[in-house]
Amino acid sequence: TRGNFVKIVEVSPRDGLQNEKTIVPTATKIELIRRLAETGVPVIEAGSFVSPKWVPQMGDTPQVVSGMPVSPSISYPVLVPNMRGLEGLQKLLETHKGQTDEIAIFTAASESFCKANTNCSIAESLTRLEEVTAKAKAMGLKVRGYVSVVAGCPYEGAVDPEAVGRVSKALKDMGCYEVSLGDTIGAGTPSVVEAALNASLKHTNAPAEYFAAHCHDTMNTGLANVLHMVRLGVRTVDAAVGGLGGCPYSPGATGNIDTESVVFALHAEGYETGTDLNKLVDVGEWISGEIGRRNMSNAGRAMLAQ
Ligand code: HMG
Ligand code: MG
Repeated sequence: TRGNFVKIVEVSPRDGLQNEKTIVPTATKIELIRRLAETGVPVIEAGSFVSPKWVPQMGDTPQVVSGMPVSPSISYPVLVPNMRGLEGLQKLLETHKGQTDEIAIFTAASESFCKANTNCSIAESLTRLEEVTAKAKAMGLKVRGYVSVVAGCPYEGAVDPEAVGRVSKALKDMGCYEVSLGDTIGAGTPSVVEAALNASLKHTNAPAEYFAAHCHDTMNTGLANVLHMVRLGVRTVDAAVGGLGGCPYSPGATGNIDTESVVFALHAEGYETGTDLNKLVDVGEWISGEIGRRNMSNAGRAMLAQ
């Protein structure tokens, strides 16, 4: 039987901020990571070693990663798209040993999104990422994999679950310890994410616990999808305080499902996350204020009004 612990991956410093138009100060990002660490979340995605021409907001990731306070019980993965990004991280770790021991690699289940996001085909991205993963593992880093657009593509519409399954298998075969299934556009519904998960289970032969749910909430289905995936055995959920987030290459998509609503619902349903909901609510409210946005978390706003 599966345990009732659900691991929360707090993606607000990366997915939450990457699409903000005005540059968020490095000190604010570091303070966000510091506050998140006090909420009990076991994983905080700290930034991206991607091209600053493509995603200017993540251009200060080296400064964020070198400046952030780290707790030995928390993982701080960073996105790495290619060898250039891994070399940047390697150089940083030479002078700031132990700031992170994990990278996240990312590809997609549709050709158009893969091209828009990383300027290459799915096959090319897998070749790149295989090399990145091998080198990262040789450096002693853990590698997490993302499959984007598992429940629909902003350019192609419906996505074949078999394509999701094939990409999940490729990521597992190259050595990812976990694969996160991304509903990038945030328009999936439970039966659609279930089909993506089922195809991934079939192609990888991995248990449901191997997968993470990464749901954006554009159409307000994010929490339904997360709870459905957890019922199906998924035990890792990616979320962002304040419902921050969005991918610059997924036009119109909005934030990640908010951590506050996920944690509220999981605790009410008898799952444990090891996180403090009140503290998450405070961090969501604080960062929303810092970047001048309305707090997008329904649970957060409701709890603050009580
Ligand atoms: P490219 O233009 O094909 O790459 O981009 P290139 O190798 O031709 O390099 C172009 C320039 O970028 C060069 O600079 C490189 O040095 C530089 P120039 O010579 O012109 O001055 N460059 C880099 N700089 C810093 N770090 C690097 C790097 N690589 C090249 N790593 C590339 C290809 C992959 C680099 C680009 O497409 C890219 O950076 N894409 C990242 C896009 C991104 O970050 N998207 C958001 C994250 S994914 C996401 O949000 C989805 C997720 O949340 C899950 C979900 O919701 O589905 C994870
Ligand atoms: Mg995302």
